[in-house]
Amino acid sequence: MSDLPTVVVGRLLLPAGMEMLTGRCEVRSGGADPTREEILTLVRGAAVIVADPTIAVDEELLAAAGPGLRAVANFAVGYDNIDLEACRGRAVVVTNTPDVLTNATAELALALTLAAARFVSGAERDLRAGHWRGWDPAAYRGLELSGATFGIVGLGRIGGRYGTLLAGFGVDLVYASPRPRPQRAERLGARWVELEDLLRSSDVVSLHAPGTPGNRHMIDARALDLMKESAVLVNTSRGVLVDSEALADALREGRIGAAGLDVFEGEPELPPALAAAPKAVITPHIGSATVKARDAMARTVAENAIAVLEGRDPPNRIA
Ligand code: DGY
Repeated sequence: MSDLPTVVVGRLLLPAGMEMLTGRCEVRSGGADPTREEILTLVRGAAVIVADPTIAVDEELLAAAGPGLRAVANFAVGYDNIDLEACRGRAVVVTNTPDVLTNATAELALALTLAAARFVSGAERDLRAGHWRGWDPAAYRGLELSGATFGIVGLGRIGGRYGTLLAGFGVDLVYASPRPRPQRAERLGARWVELEDLLRSSDVVSLHAPGTPGNRHMIDARALDLMKESAVLVNTSRGVLVDSEALADALREGRIGAAGLDVFEGEPELPPALAAAPKAVITPHIGSATVKARDAMARTVAENAIAVLEGRDPPNRIA
């Protein structure tokens, strides 16, 4: 048996991160699709657990790991999968992977904005299914982004980068967030408004807020009713922010224009109402899925784990 500390990777850590851990610790990985029971068994005796958005880090998991657990290194910037209080209660350090996925996620938000505004998925589906009868002046008329009003909900790193990417469209920018972000807003030329005003005035509403209990169903039936009938809703943050049933109803009844979603409630199962909803472009939580971002995330996870194992303060500590 080796004297090296054990790092348990709940599922997968990409080679960019694994290479950094090699020789410094024993690594056990759960693989692509472990069951909860398998993860609970795997974490026994871990000094560090590498989690990700699919792994709930709660009392049960921490207890299963045992008293030697020193850190949970999350392979994600969001950490709504982690019970921070439970970690603090056991003096377990928690880290995440900020910054390195900002560009990738903002770029996907822009891709979904464009795709939803112009019905790209539905138009392609029709074409492949043989339903296209030739150029039609009335068909697939979407929202022109140039000159549109964009409402960014949450002007953090990713929301801010999304705003920067919009500059070429010559848009009007408003934002809502729990606290004003004067410097970032000034750089972007964005005005702070109340969420309700943002929903009423925006042609595109893009969500960049964390999946906290307080943000659950921030976009519910009432919020959707405030939006313009032509408005596009984009969500690349967390599924819990949007009431999927209410969104599906609004899309079906034409009360909003379109939606671009990278996240949804109850992942990985796509809510049937959303699956059946028209004018929705939906991707499977791939916001950070570029080679560059995911490799950098894996390295950040490893850096944080190694720092804790070496008794240093990790660079991305959140608890
Ligand atoms: C995150 O980092 O929080 C994403 O949702 C996964 O990349």
